[in-house]
Amino acid sequence: MLIDGVATRTVRADPAAGLIEVLDQTALPHQVRWVVVDTLAAAAHAITTMQVRGAPLIGATAAYGMAVAAGRDASDAGLHAAAATLAATRPTAVNLSWALHRMLGRLLAEPLPDRAIWAWREADAIAEHDVAASTAIGAHGEPLLRRLRPPAGRPASVLTHCNAGWLATVDRGTALAPVYAATDAGLELHVWVSETRPRNQGLLTAWELDQQGVPCTVIADNACGELIRSGQVDAVLVGADRIAANGDVANKIGTYLKALACVDAGIPCYVLAPASTIDIGSLTGAAIPIEERDGDELRVVHGLDAAGEASSVRQLAAEVPVYNPAFDVTPARLITAIVTEHGVAPATTDGVSRLMRGPA
Ligand code: MRU
Repeated sequence: MLIDGVATRTVRADPAAGLIEVLDQTALPHQVRWVVVDTLAAAAHAITTMQVRGAPLIGATAAYGMAVAAGRDASDAGLHAAAATLAATRPTAVNLSWALHRMLGRLLAEPLPDRAIWAWREADAIAEHDVAASTAIGAHGEPLLRRLRPPAGRPASVLTHCNAGWLATVDRGTALAPVYAATDAGLELHVWVSETRPRNQGLLTAWELDQQGVPCTVIADNACGELIRSGQVDAVLVGADRIAANGDVANKIGTYLKALACVDAGIPCYVLAPASTIDIGSLTGAAIPIEERDGDELRVVHGLDAAGEASSVRQLAAEVPVYNPAFDVTPARLITAIVTEHGVAPATTDGVSRLMRGPA
């Protein structure tokens, strides 16, 4: 997608130098900054600190982290240790373990001297797979947007939560992929962007939509219910960090409330994610590990000061107790449909299994 009119991906690989560069999402939306990842520790750090974030991009970055690590130690023990380090970075997005299993499976089958080269090829293949999946999600989701019937006088208006746009993937996005497909094809759309406290990924969403020229409006998380109830939203589009076998979906904290409001208002709630987000090992959402993050994410607010310099403000004393779950589980019964690169299906055991396999 575009940054200042230039086509850009969130990760750039340089196999000859044994490194990648990632777009630092902790600096956005204020600054476009790239971070060099040239060690296993730097790859783990990038994921843990959310310089890269979003389930598909976490998976792709972990794959490249394995390639970086394989350049130093491609032995069986070295690869297993690298995978364990990366797997420990964040618990909920299953794309992480999906990518690590794929890398391990590919590399352990190769003779030791060839593994470093294969590691870069396989990581590139995972990144390309992600772009293709996002593009296909856009194609499958676009008709759902064309079907919306907004009241006369305004364009179709969708609401999204967190950031499931191109910043959460290698390119194109998941929940926003149909928005880009539809607007590229000339459909007029407006996007309500929920702020997504405490990490404010909604600000990333507003930045990337603005960069692509898609009209959007940021709203406080607490405004979503009222907007949905009062008919100002035609559909909710969200991503996923893990989809259980029965169609329950773990996504950014706050998704559940939006899905509840959709049911009450009678509007669709669509979940869009690559098949690598499906975890059939989690039979229901109850089996999905939910990441709990540092309380300082609520206690301390980050932004720019009056001089335009990066700055932090403490809004709660360090000793104030805080509970900060990063994700919630939306039960399958509240989800209108799930979209993957393989198509659109109901959030049921049968639907999920079709979305995982693709056409027979
Ligand atoms: O904690 P994050 O920012 O890595 O959260 C992941 C997400 O971006 C969202 O939950 C998203 O909807 C799923 S990933 C496309």
